[in-house]
Amino acid sequence: MFAVLLLGIVSLLIYSIVRYYQYTAKYPKGPLPLPFIGNLLDFDFKTQHKTFDRLGKQQKGIYTLFTPVPYVQITDYQIIKEAFVDKGDDFIGRPTNKVLQEAFTFAPNAGVINSNGDNWREQRRMAITIMRDFGMGKNLMEEQVRSSVGEYIEHLNNIEDKDNVDMRWPVQVMVANIINEVLFGYRYKHGDCAPLMKYVEDFNYMIDHISDSKGLLLGMGFPFLTELPIIGWYTYGQFKDAMAKINEYIVHNVERALKDYNVEDEPTCFVHAYKQKMAQNANAYLDQENLMGTCADFFLAGQETTTTTLRWAMLIFAKHPEIQEKLRQEVHSVIGKDRLPFMADQPKMLYARACVLELQRFANILATNVQRVTTKDVEIRGEIIPKDTWVNADIHYLMANDTMFENPEEFRPERYICQDGKTLRKVRYDLIDRTIPFSIGKRMCAGEGIARVELFLGLTSTFQNFKISPRPGHPIDLEPKTGQIILPKPQQLRIQKV
Ligand code: HEM
Repeated sequence: MFAVLLLGIVSLLIYSIVRYYQYTAKYPKGPLPLPFIGNLLDFDFKTQHKTFDRLGKQQKGIYTLFTPVPYVQITDYQIIKEAFVDKGDDFIGRPTNKVLQEAFTFAPNAGVINSNGDNWREQRRMAITIMRDFGMGKNLMEEQVRSSVGEYIEHLNNIEDKDNVDMRWPVQVMVANIINEVLFGYRYKHGDCAPLMKYVEDFNYMIDHISDSKGLLLGMGFPFLTELPIIGWYTYGQFKDAMAKINEYIVHNVERALKDYNVEDEPTCFVHAYKQKMAQNANAYLDQENLMGTCADFFLAGQETTTTTLRWAMLIFAKHPEIQEKLRQEVHSVIGKDRLPFMADQPKMLYARACVLELQRFANILATNVQRVTTKDVEIRGEIIPKDTWVNADIHYLMANDTMFENPEEFRPERYICQDGKTLRKVRYDLIDRTIPFSIGKRMCAGEGIARVELFLGLTSTFQNFKISPRPGHPIDLEPKTGQIILPKPQQLRIQKV
């Protein structure tokens, strides 16, 4: 009897393993997954980009990791382009996984970043239209950025102990004020921004927690676990709770903006304009939940990303004084010291443009691209990717490893400049094409226009006005903190007015 039972169990096990490998064989080949747990043992979630760097080098531009859900990685630029641009509509989805949709959003399928189908299309179109009405990519938005940059420079000027400055909050407030003003119509004063600091701290707490959590992976791989008592908290509930705390900021600010707003009046911020379009019945998809969701997405994506990039800039340029000096000389010779830069100065500032490109390449801040999902079975380079598969177009890997970037571990803006010293290297080497921190295709970053203005003006203004260097005896540490967003470790710098 026991022998029969044992035989039955072994047969069932062998059958399940065979079925498992039949299932994994449907995806592009990658490192061999173990039955049921896939490649989890191969994966360090705290330093995901390092795992992807290590595994990507052993593969041929496209492969699958089982985490344990199948997760297709694309590391080759031409394949990313083929997928996200040539076959863009087939890769346009975001995961519908319960944990991601319910715990990490304002509401499932609301807003822009995580929504799908017609709702995504309409939210994105409407958000970009409203932003354009407020001048995104035009002079009006540039004026808001310049004004916030001006306050930041003034704040740095007023710091008494310039030998020990943590640039984190000055940069964060400068960047957050821009999107806060666009969305909600007001700004914070440096030094008086407790609600903003609480938002950022709550967000960072959640990010730290995610990178540490096996529970999250289990919840995503086996959604039934999220329904169980206690286990449900570790696999889902704690993240939903953390996200709700973060979103209190959004709810409060949307309500604040709408309190005295009459839809007959001229809108003065994004919330007003969205509400007015709702009242005009401009679009069946416009409702309160999507208003909140879109504001939540733009606020989150709109400040943490550019802030982190500029925080890296402070450390990298402090570590490379010769590059900092060369940038400053260009700024002083084109603009002088008496006014802040304009975007119109950019064409005359080749070195500054190369510095921004190299900064975004070298200090790319997302450990993985935002996950996409295939909307149907799709063939890429002879490999079939089944419908509903998660895809990571690994822009981090690309910018850190593509052989076009000679010695990619070096910070060297000159790599983007032709030998004539007058042009960027687009034509000959396609380096700029491969520098894609905002991703590519129809779902690429919706805030690229604002981000580019913030990065150019933020970087050039800082070094126009200050020399930034390490404190004596405290060398710069460029090893990042672990996590989904690649953050610098907190460290203080010395700033000197020039
Ligand atoms: C250095 C700054 C930034 C970087 C590196 C960055 C990068 C990205 C990336 C890689 C994506 C995913 C694109 C894809 O799925 O292919 C994305 C999406 C997005 N970003 Fe950015 N971003 C930045 C700044 C901003 C800013 C300033 C805003 C808003 C003002 C913003 C709003 C968004 C939104 C709404 C999406 C979702 C787009 C969609 O799903 O349709 N981002 N960003």
